[in-house]
Amino acid sequence: MVLCFWLLLVGPVCCWCQGALDTEATGAFQPQSALTDMEFATVGTYRGPGNSDSRSNKELPIILWWSSNLFPHFPGDRERVDCARSSCLITSNRKVQLYRRTASIIFYGTDFRAYEAPLPRLPHQTWALFHEESPMNNYLLSHFVGIRLFNYTATFRRGSDYPLTLQWLPSLEYLLAPTAVSLEDKNHWRRAGLAPVLYMQSHCDVPSDRDRYVQELMKHIEIDSYGKCLNNRALPEYLEDTSTATGEDRRFMAFVARYKFHLALENGLCPDYMTEKLWRPMHQGCVPIYKGSSTVSDWLPNNHSVVLIDDFPTPRVLAEFLKMLDQDDAEYSRYLKYKTASEITNLRLLDGLKNREWGINDMSKPNYLNGFECFVCDKENERLAAMKVHRKNPKKNQAPQPKMADNSHMGCPLPSPGYGPVESIDSNDRWLQMWPQDYWQSLDQAEGLESLIRHNVSEPSLLWQHIQSIVVRRAGGQ
Ligand SMILES: *[C@@H]1O[C@H](CO)[C@@H](O)[C@H](O)[C@H]1NC(C)=O
Ligand SMILES: *[C@@H]1O[C@H](CO)[C@@H](O)[C@H](O)[C@H]1NC(C)=O
Ligand SMILES: *[C@@H]1O[C@H](CO)[C@@H](O)[C@H](O)[C@H]1NC(C)=O
Repeated sequence: MVLCFWLLLVGPVCCWCQGALDTEATGAFQPQSALTDMEFATVGTYRGPGNSDSRSNKELPIILWWSSNLFPHFPGDRERVDCARSSCLITSNRKVQLYRRTASIIFYGTDFRAYEAPLPRLPHQTWALFHEESPMNNYLLSHFVGIRLFNYTATFRRGSDYPLTLQWLPSLEYLLAPTAVSLEDKNHWRRAGLAPVLYMQSHCDVPSDRDRYVQELMKHIEIDSYGKCLNNRALPEYLEDTSTATGEDRRFMAFVARYKFHLALENGLCPDYMTEKLWRPMHQGCVPIYKGSSTVSDWLPNNHSVVLIDDFPTPRVLAEFLKMLDQDDAEYSRYLKYKTASEITNLRLLDGLKNREWGINDMSKPNYLNGFECFVCDKENERLAAMKVHRKNPKKNQAPQPKMADNSHMGCPLPSPGYGPVESIDSNDRWLQMWPQDYWQSLDQAEGLESLIRHNVSEPSLLWQHIQSIVVRRAGGQ
């Protein structure tokens, strides 16, 4: 994904066009990441119906994209955007960092580093966070002191200011697509030697520690695993190309759709973090065996469409349940009832898809980067107007209230073992050495950055000193 944006910086290289063409040709949804699919170049100037902003560019507030490789415009110094209610100047040029007119700085969560933060933090500037990706990419944001540094957020969590919760579900039609391989044919493939369950994962050292669970489950039920993690079967040669084996290539889709169940374990656990791992098998008419968002049921089409790992006390009990479903066509079919539109009874899901203002592969709607940018622009203009009114008559008009994010915008839990208690894990275990530490080191960084800001420090590299004194103070029990 990042590659695309670098190409964008070099010139108008349309690296997502290939995907867009394929999408039209096959009618399928193709993203590797939801972001690769967005057609930045095609977003024309759009002026919302409530925008009668007649100010010249010189008078507009500036919004600075700190992470320039996500700048959702053609490269250039600056661009005027006309949003739903007001207008702003947008730039990725860091020389405006300390300008009076720079009202807000937008950060991309995955790239956000405490030791590179724009300091000193000016009291008149807000910070805005865009983070649609996995919690594992930056645990700093999962700590209260970290997320509270931001005034506005767009994250996968519904509590965020500009929620991206259903970002991996392109449309209701995607969910309603007819089952790709009939149950009769799936039973045929079972008799021909396919396992009931598919696992396809090549990213193995992840905070959710999913392989430890799957390995245990494998002791009790047959699982065909084609990826690098827990591999026990070879991919056919025509799928060996890794881009084919992870995308929505038609042959790849046909290959995996023959399985009754797809193991769908997210790489990081967090409420409302759901990806294509969940929605793609449902699109194909396979039953996901899911673990990821603890609140996933809130978004499912009905209460009988996914097998939730958390509903089963042990992998063994889950395996027994899956074997039963494998033998019972009527029971298995109940999981696919949502393929009939009237069986989709979850209003939160239906409203969420209908009311979101950004679109996926939808030229009539802004993509969510431009959408969030406009959200921030309108909020800042609102705040500036309220400040002005307040300054004119402080007695009559209150100053706008400060607004900060909290754990309902991210707040992902400390990584825990995929199976069994943490005490039973060997101290040399890779997961143990990596993820719990990463989580706590991120807390140190968040506290260090908060300290830099509180002390009005201008040099972000002093972070390490501040962290050190925090750690020393903590050890002293203060
Ligand atoms: C699932 O939905 C059905 C029909 O709406 C309802 O009768 C049933 O109690 C629900 N089951 C659970 C576990 O919520
Ligand atoms: C933005 O957040 C910072 C840090 O949490 C806070 O000090 C500041 O008051 C907030 N600004 C606004 C305008 O809400
Ligand atoms: C913070 O530092 C900046 C420049 O380093 C300075 O201009 C500003 O007055 C300081 N603010 C406070 C509140 O001390």
